[in-house]
Amino acid sequence: MCGIIGYVGSQNPKDILLDGLKRLEYRGYDSAGVAVFENGKSQVYRCEGRLENLERRLKEVQFAGHIGIGHTRWATHGAPNETNAHPHKIGAITLVHNGIIENYIDHKEKLLKMGRSIASDTDSEIVAHLFDIEVTRGLTLLQAMNTVLPTLRGSYAFVVMSEKEPELLIGVRNGAPLLLGVGEGENYVASDAQAVLHRTRQIVYLEDHQFAALTREKISVFNDRGEPLNHTVKRIDWSPEQAEKLGYRHYMLKEIHEQANAITNTIDGNIDHKRGVIACSELAFTRDVLASFKRIAITACGTARHAGLIGKSYFERFARIPVEVDYASEFRYRNPVIDSSTLLITISQSGETADTLAALREAKGLGSKTLSICNVRDSTLARESDVVLYTNAGPEIGVASTKAFTTQLVVLYMLSVEVGLARKTLTEAEAKELTSDLVRLPMLVESVLQKEDELEKIAIEYQADPSFFFIGRGCLYPVALEGALKLKEISYIHAEGYAAGELKHGPIALIDRSTVTIALASVDTPYSHLGTAYTTVLHEKVVSNIQEVRARGGRVISLVTEGNSHFDPISQHVVRMPRATWAMSPILYTIPLQLFAYYVALQRGTDVDKPRNLAKSVTVE
Ligand code: F6R
Repeated sequence: MCGIIGYVGSQNPKDILLDGLKRLEYRGYDSAGVAVFENGKSQVYRCEGRLENLERRLKEVQFAGHIGIGHTRWATHGAPNETNAHPHKIGAITLVHNGIIENYIDHKEKLLKMGRSIASDTDSEIVAHLFDIEVTRGLTLLQAMNTVLPTLRGSYAFVVMSEKEPELLIGVRNGAPLLLGVGEGENYVASDAQAVLHRTRQIVYLEDHQFAALTREKISVFNDRGEPLNHTVKRIDWSPEQAEKLGYRHYMLKEIHEQANAITNTIDGNIDHKRGVIACSELAFTRDVLASFKRIAITACGTARHAGLIGKSYFERFARIPVEVDYASEFRYRNPVIDSSTLLITISQSGETADTLAALREAKGLGSKTLSICNVRDSTLARESDVVLYTNAGPEIGVASTKAFTTQLVVLYMLSVEVGLARKTLTEAEAKELTSDLVRLPMLVESVLQKEDELEKIAIEYQADPSFFFIGRGCLYPVALEGALKLKEISYIHAEGYAAGELKHGPIALIDRSTVTIALASVDTPYSHLGTAYTTVLHEKVVSNIQEVRARGGRVISLVTEGNSHFDPISQHVVRMPRATWAMSPILYTIPLQLFAYYVALQRGTDVDKPRNLAKSVTVE
């Protein structure tokens, strides 16, 4: 949440800051602002709403300075208006902040007693006052870090500049991401590499409780006692072009279309071609360690949690190991019963989701081994986990997750085969079959993407409907949850995902002519080594569930395996999906739901890539 960028160098900072903010806008877009030093004085420009408002305001403004900071906000404390927008300037201090200062009210009361006037409702302004008090009594910014930081509780990242030291930026990280971009004769600080990758690939990741001082020539990193630390510069290989729209109208559509490639890249390097079997190259646990786990706990948020629910089916079927899946925000506060015999898997596109990080730390504290499935390299989650398996999906900019989800499923699938081999619940021949299935997946994904026009037409027909149910059984049930989430988050239409058999236990009361039910029912291609495709039974049960919907006047769109005509007489539309095995179906059935949500949202004129009230990376609890 909230994007931060800072620059110190010899160039005009205006374009650098605005350009950086544009790349960070997915982190929040309630307001935006920049501040630059002009003749030693900080000039602040802020606007409510999208970045374009700020760009318009700055059109005629020329900056003479070479140092500045910028911010795009996702509101936590205080309404999304100009007064609450960042940067906050108090006396000599100008500051941008991401995160939450939990004890800001105590500080605020003290500041009010001291006679300070507080303009905004934010916790961030309070921190600016605290720094101003310290520099006014003669401390340098670096010294002020040592006096102010210990008084703050919460999770935060901020960048501060002081008019008393106009060549310096200070960045602080504690629970919210912050990194440094190393240039030649210039340096950057940002909440996300995305903001600076088109300018430098040399990145220094700050750890929690560290802060950095940046001048034009130099960056220095300190621990929370102010002691200098060595820092490592990493080279990031994501090219800036990967993050552009490449002619697509929205990032989301581009990312939907990238899925075949993203899956290929995620599989790449994870197959032992001699044996023809999956072998995850980043899986640093030995077979013995993998075999020693008695259970798996998966924890994640939102779409990533839906991936976890499908992962549970994979692990249970291929590795016969008990798995529980939890919302990260619930897991951490329910005193989970886990220990060193539990493998804790966290799943996160960004690797910065506060709830997921907290769940990871909770599990580590309880002695579990931890494995993370992440898309963003060297993210906090990746760095703090015992083992990381990366989804090589490339940058995902659209706020609604698409290619990250399908590649998370691919990683979970590969991992479940590894665990199955380690536990000897899968034979080499079975693992080979599952591997060749996976290798064919990108081709099947391409063929599902060909259905875009059909999905667009259906979306046009249903875009005005007020309420949708998505239903499925087995591992298509989490796909139903995901389909409903995609639709509600970008089109703002009410949508619910249900296990198809659960509809009759209450929700069916809502079914009438005004509701649309999207039914997912595959008849899976049987495995030659792994027994029958029991979803054939499930598919017949979904037919009965649809009959129940039809009997109450509900309209139905069905997604079924080609050649299956059972749904034709009971559906308004039938989308035919390619034949595939059990484990591939959830990946394939997700794609038409993404396209459907996209085209409904397009019809309704919502901001597809930046839906209201959302942020790409949720770094607050
Ligand atoms: C929905 C969506 C969110 C994220 C969730 C977790 O489309 O993107 O539900 O899945 O906020 O984010 P990550 O995966 O970054 O931990």
